[in-house]
Amino acid sequence: MATPAQITAATREDLLNAMRGEAFAYASYMLFAETARRNGKSEVADLFEATARTELLEHFAEQAALTGLVGGDADNLRHAIEGESHEIDVLYPSYAEHARAAGDAAAADRLDEIRRDELDHLEAFREALESIA
Ligand SMILES: [Fe+2]
Ligand SMILES: [Fe+2]
Repeated sequence: MATPAQITAATREDLLNAMRGEAFAYASYMLFAETARRNGKSEVADLFEATARTELLEHFAEQAALTGLVGGDADNLRHAIEGESHEIDVLYPSYAEHARAAGDAAAADRLDEIRRDELDHLEAFREALESIA
């Protein structure tokens, strides 16, 4: 179990916001790399991938250690279950509803479809938690 440093609630909030940015940068750069590789720009692809790794394995990971994000396996599974449940029960239904109300039908359909994938994630995490309990 990671031992979080003693930090104030405000610093913790800033770290969590920074982590969202780092995670978004990681994911974006990996997609940018895929596109660059498809376009035959392998040096650009390598640059995006190398930078993405730093965002995840150094920046995100160091901030995660400070906030105590990563715990034991059971804690991590409970954390994941909580996150997936929020997406399933609150986030995706309301975003799909907003999109549908705004006339963005394709986006609404995609959000519904993603929500169904999250149900599989939730179920798999629940089973894993039971199996290690
Ligand atoms: Fe970064
Ligand atoms: Fe998920």
